[in-house]
Amino acid sequence: MSFGVGVIGCGNIAPNYLGNAKLFADIEVKAVADLNEALATSRSVEFGIDKNSVDQLLARDDIEVILNLTPPVAHASVTRVALAAGKHVYSEKPLATNFQEGLALKNEAERLGLSLAVAPDTFLGASHQLARRIIDNGDVGRIVGGAAFFLSPGMESWHPNPGFFFKAGGGPLFDMAPYYLTGLVNLLGPIERVVSMSSAGRTTRLVTAEGPMSGKEIPVEVPTTFWSVLAFRSGAQVSLGVSWDVQMHTLPHIELYGSEGSLRLADPDQFGGTVHVGKHSSWQEIATEGRRFGGPEGTWTDHRILGLVDMVIAIAEKREPRASVDRALHVLEAIESLTAAAVGGKAVVLSTSCERSAPFDSSLIRLR
Ligand SMILES: NC(=O)c1ccc[n+]([C@@H]2O[C@H](COP(=O)([O-])OP(=O)(O)OC[C@H]3O[C@@H](n4cnc5c(N)ncnc54)[C@H](O)[C@@H]3O)[C@@H](O)[C@H]2O)c1
Repeated sequence: MSFGVGVIGCGNIAPNYLGNAKLFADIEVKAVADLNEALATSRSVEFGIDKNSVDQLLARDDIEVILNLTPPVAHASVTRVALAAGKHVYSEKPLATNFQEGLALKNEAERLGLSLAVAPDTFLGASHQLARRIIDNGDVGRIVGGAAFFLSPGMESWHPNPGFFFKAGGGPLFDMAPYYLTGLVNLLGPIERVVSMSSAGRTTRLVTAEGPMSGKEIPVEVPTTFWSVLAFRSGAQVSLGVSWDVQMHTLPHIELYGSEGSLRLADPDQFGGTVHVGKHSSWQEIATEGRRFGGPEGTWTDHRILGLVDMVIAIAEKREPRASVDRALHVLEAIESLTAAAVGGKAVVLSTSCERSAPFDSSLIRLR
């Protein structure tokens, strides 16, 4: 079994996916497309795959799955036309830039009998699956609270085309919080309600990343800092800070506090990293088992596309993909609820729920 994949969007993150795709036996990237033809051509040459227009790519019989790597504002429209063309879709996060659009996509995929799965897939990484086992085994007791932080100066110093990060559908809440919310939902289950406050540290940003935008001021149209509390249905309450207004800090990515011990987790934007259990006044590193699929050495592992690989196996096995649209929609509602809570100054109760995805066994993934 090997599924033909067509990639729409050939920008900054595309090389990570295109490089990783070559590792896995269950998928084969057949073609790339981008509104920017020159970019599509250069990716096609670099990775030795066809370049098509979006329409050509959607019309191909040897492509069953579309990998949507466009910016967030284009996610819903690209996913919609791909579904209409009869393709399964794996989309970068977020599913859409608002809940209603996301819900419509989920319903449309279900109506058409097509699979729709959504990044991030970092929660499939060995360190996050280890944390899941520690919690499920009861090693730290019942999780009662936690703290999660993504705090940085912003994106304009490294991304060559950072305008979309500061427009509707951007900001650290849409861009980075999905890693944290997905990781937490995978560990703790669905969120019940949220409170939040937000602000924007600056009204414009100076692009210092190399490229055609370098030296240009770009407008900031969304909040760039949110301080929030998430109340999970399990009873756990977790502080969440996400910001692009912080130059330096010493806070952890995620800590969870259980009745019998504490857990310090790896960066949820990465697959690898270390997990520590804290008991009796000391932290102990727990050895991470699991497979490396490639990517650079060290803790900065990158297996982006594993969620898509799991999705095609799920199609063959007639089960839900682990990077499920239900979880993505729940996370999207959490994001929208955090925004609404910050604007309205009141707690917002979520209407959606989702199952925690089944634990992931990396030994079942077939390499080329
Ligand atoms: N850059 C990263 O490090 C990174 C990491 C993880 C996830 N992501 C996610 O990946 C997605 C893409 O990010 P990026 O950094 O590669 O963005 P990017 O702006 O560098 O690239 C997006 C590409 O999509 C193309 N595009 C836009 N609309 C299109 C359409 N309708 N049809 C065809 N092509 C279209 C653009 O021309 C552009 O080349 C985003 O959702 C982002 O959140 C990015």
